[in-house]
Amino acid sequence: MRTAVFPGSFDPVTNGHMDLIRRGAKLFDRLVIGVLVNIEKTPFFTIEERIEILSALTKGMEQVTVKTFGGLLVDFVEKENASVILRGLRTVQDFSYEQPLAQANYKLNEHAETLFLISEPEYSYISSSGVKEIFRFGGEVREMVPDIVYEKLKEKNH
Ligand code: PNS
Repeated sequence: MRTAVFPGSFDPVTNGHMDLIRRGAKLFDRLVIGVLVNIEKTPFFTIEERIEILSALTKGMEQVTVKTFGGLLVDFVEKENASVILRGLRTVQDFSYEQPLAQANYKLNEHAETLFLISEPEYSYISSSGVKEIFRFGGEVREMVPDIVYEKLKEKNH
């Protein structure tokens, strides 16, 4: 059974993430979404909220499970018996960021290959940090995130 881990902060989940989840689920028998518990960052959505949102969004996708992880990604990959780390590439800036991460992860565990999917063009401008910034300053993010995330963002504003 081929298992891939799709790691990230998912704060919040964007349409770009969802595109990758859908495509990853077609490529692997099992896709584990690993939500990083990052104690240094002040999140917009709590870890519980992010798990709830991702679980709702992937309901009915049988290969997909949603879990949290802390510490090293390669340790989580090993614990999940996965052989692939799935990441998305939107731009060359992403490549510059991802290259040393993939190389470090391979150095730490050569059984964990990082596989990149190129983002669909309509999602390549979307990032979680961009969504948060646009939302904070009153801009429209409806087309950047799934409806459930949009509703939750609006709830936070009240
Ligand atoms: O959504 P993000 O913030 O781009 O995801 C980054 C993530 C979670 C993939 C990365 O921060 C990560 O793997 N963190 C876990 C710690 C780790 O393993 N670091 C070593 C890689 S050099």
